[in-house]
Amino acid sequence: HTQNASAGEVGKPKPTPATSKPVSTPAAFTVPLSVPPTLRPSRVTRDTDYYDVTIGKSYANIVPGARTEVLTYNGSFPGPTIRARSGRKVVVRQKNHLNEPATVHLHGGATEQASDGSAMDPIKAGESKIFTYHNLQPHANLWMHDHTHHLESEHLFRGLANLYLLTDKIEESLPLPKGKYDVPLMLSDTRLDDKGQLVYTMDDAFQRTTLLVNGRPRPYFKVDARKYRFRLVNTSNLRMFWLSLSDGTPLTVIGADGGLLPAPYETERLLISPGERADLIIDFSKYPPGTQLILKNDLPPGDPELIGQVIRFDVGRPAPDKSSIPATLRSLPAIGEADTTRQMVMYMDEVGAGTNAFLNGKAFDPDRIDIDIKHGTTEEWILTNTSQTIPHNFHTHLVQFRVTGRNGGPATGFETGLKDTVLLWPGEFVTLRATFDTYKGVFPYHCHMVDHSAMGMMAQLRVS
Ligand code: C2O
Ligand code: CU
Ligand code: CU
Repeated sequence: HTQNASAGEVGKPKPTPATSKPVSTPAAFTVPLSVPPTLRPSRVTRDTDYYDVTIGKSYANIVPGARTEVLTYNGSFPGPTIRARSGRKVVVRQKNHLNEPATVHLHGGATEQASDGSAMDPIKAGESKIFTYHNLQPHANLWMHDHTHHLESEHLFRGLANLYLLTDKIEESLPLPKGKYDVPLMLSDTRLDDKGQLVYTMDDAFQRTTLLVNGRPRPYFKVDARKYRFRLVNTSNLRMFWLSLSDGTPLTVIGADGGLLPAPYETERLLISPGERADLIIDFSKYPPGTQLILKNDLPPGDPELIGQVIRFDVGRPAPDKSSIPATLRSLPAIGEADTTRQMVMYMDEVGAGTNAFLNGKAFDPDRIDIDIKHGTTEEWILTNTSQTIPHNFHTHLVQFRVTGRNGGPATGFETGLKDTVLLWPGEFVTLRATFDTYKGVFPYHCHMVDHSAMGMMAQLRVS
């Protein structure tokens, strides 16, 4: 018996049956989790890893019985993981096999302008481009995604995202869970039709109610009864995940966008907006074999039946565990004194969709430089979301920043770490500081609910 996509619409005329049986999102926890493959370098030299990636159409098995057409890096949905080390260069040759422009941005990376994958500097259809990443920053869970102006939202939705896990001596020296006990979880959502094909419409968050983890619909994951590290990345276009464990056990959070936190903390619920990352430890050793533990999501849009559960951990036998969670994970540089303070207002019209999303009252204009920054200085930005009902989240390229205040209070939770993306609920204000001492050039900053940035909520800074 297959679940019918139009259950609940009994009596309505059915669309003409296609050649294949209708498919729908499978019941929760019926498919196993998979982990994206690690990309193999095509060439390795003393100081550089070279990779070749092809951007192209492919098929993914998202729901049983359907071959879903997706966009991929090297045929993998989501794309393969690049593993990099601080101080060691990565060079990626991206070949665009699509019939339209594409470009790849390393989210959270300190990248020179020529390799930033800027929205306005796409790889033309059929062409290639070489991206160089010097990896001069400390360890961080970075990710890559399409950034083509006006197409970024659809390209990301259709699958153009992959992890870029940058490590360094600090991270490696810690006794955190490693190897198969260190698992990336890319959280996203999608919308499928009754043939199991993706349906993309700009800004239709309410329709994207099929939750995916690493491209699999609400999977289960068999774990040993010991500690695991989970690297969470919200790669969805618009969806927030508000996560908790079904038995109420707090989550131990050890890292944020820009790498490990100074110290771990525990929280019953963790909120991750699009583009943000969180590093977690879950200790399954206290559960008897056979325990089923669900990572829940408590935020709409969508029917809680569909969006309320993300992944189920099926606890197996105990396994040896030498890992531990040090009370001190790393030290962070002091937050600089602000040389310049600026206001950034995020606003989007509440009705209708179109090009009606603004940063400081203006829609994105690639020919306009919105702010000029002197190299080496520290900027303080006061962000405000003046939308009545729509959340936004702010992301800037080039630097990691520090959140110095939220709604008049201090930053808490993972916002005490290095961040490159920060959430603002309607009416909220957040203060952040960043020191622009890496590359000079022109870089975008924008709302990372990418349907909003595609609609204009994006601007450009110039460091000189
Ligand atoms: Cu992850 Cu400009 O974006
Ligand atoms: Cu970015
Ligand atoms: Cu927004």
